[in-house]
Amino acid sequence: MIITKNIKMADVIHMNYFTLSVLNRFGIELGFGDKSVQDVCKEYNVDSDFFLEIVNAFVNKDYFPKKNLQNFPVKLITDYLQKTHDFYHKLKVPEIEQLIEDMVESCYAQKDNMVLLKKFFNDYKKELANHTQREEDVVFPYTIAIEKAFNSEKPDDSVFVLMETYSIDIFKNEHDNIEEKLFDLKNIIIKYLPRPKDHKLCNKLLHQLFNLEQDLNDHSRIEEKVLVPKIREMEKSIIKRFTKG
Ligand SMILES: [Fe+2]
Ligand SMILES: [Fe+2]
Repeated sequence: MIITKNIKMADVIHMNYFTLSVLNRFGIELGFGDKSVQDVCKEYNVDSDFFLEIVNAFVNKDYFPKKNLQNFPVKLITDYLQKTHDFYHKLKVPEIEQLIEDMVESCYAQKDNMVLLKKFFNDYKKELANHTQREEDVVFPYTIAIEKAFNSEKPDDSVFVLMETYSIDIFKNEHDNIEEKLFDLKNIIIKYLPRPKDHKLCNKLLHQLFNLEQDLNDHSRIEEKVLVPKIREMEKSIIKRFTKG
């Protein structure tokens, strides 16, 4: 089912409660009564068309309106991606770390197993931080610079210098699959660790990992299928318009 602007915001959450994290990123908080998506977005000063594209892409993998999404300003897209990074680092990773910490005492007879799990997640945390840091330091500023040049009659020379050493395809080629490692982590818990003493904690941890994995998948799709093609088109146009030969 496609979410439209007239649907009640409450029903969006009933439909798929993982959308709560999307709402958080837009700064939308609970308590919206029977208000529609459009009214709530208006109240929070959120572009409702952009919100709808993002939330529909999130709940429905087949609904991937890359063409529609590509019409939005780069800054709107990178701001959303940036907020998603913050959500991972400030909320998701600490939650998972706490669960692993809680499991240390209660889950497995052999402490070695927990040491392994902790180490694996610690390494993952570092990898995720490096991944998002690089995007924030290099990729997002690059995309903003490209959009600025694209909209300009006479782009600053600095953008041409930048384009000599970097391109969105470089990002695309080096953009690693950060979700894959989470799959491995889930597999360690599901297949290889012995039966846990506290299955509730273990289930909670798995639930969190599946949730993070789904969120990361959606995030990467926006980076690779929306941001990359949009910037590639702009790069081409800049080269065509402003460079000779
Ligand atoms: Fe990212
Ligand atoms: Fe990424």
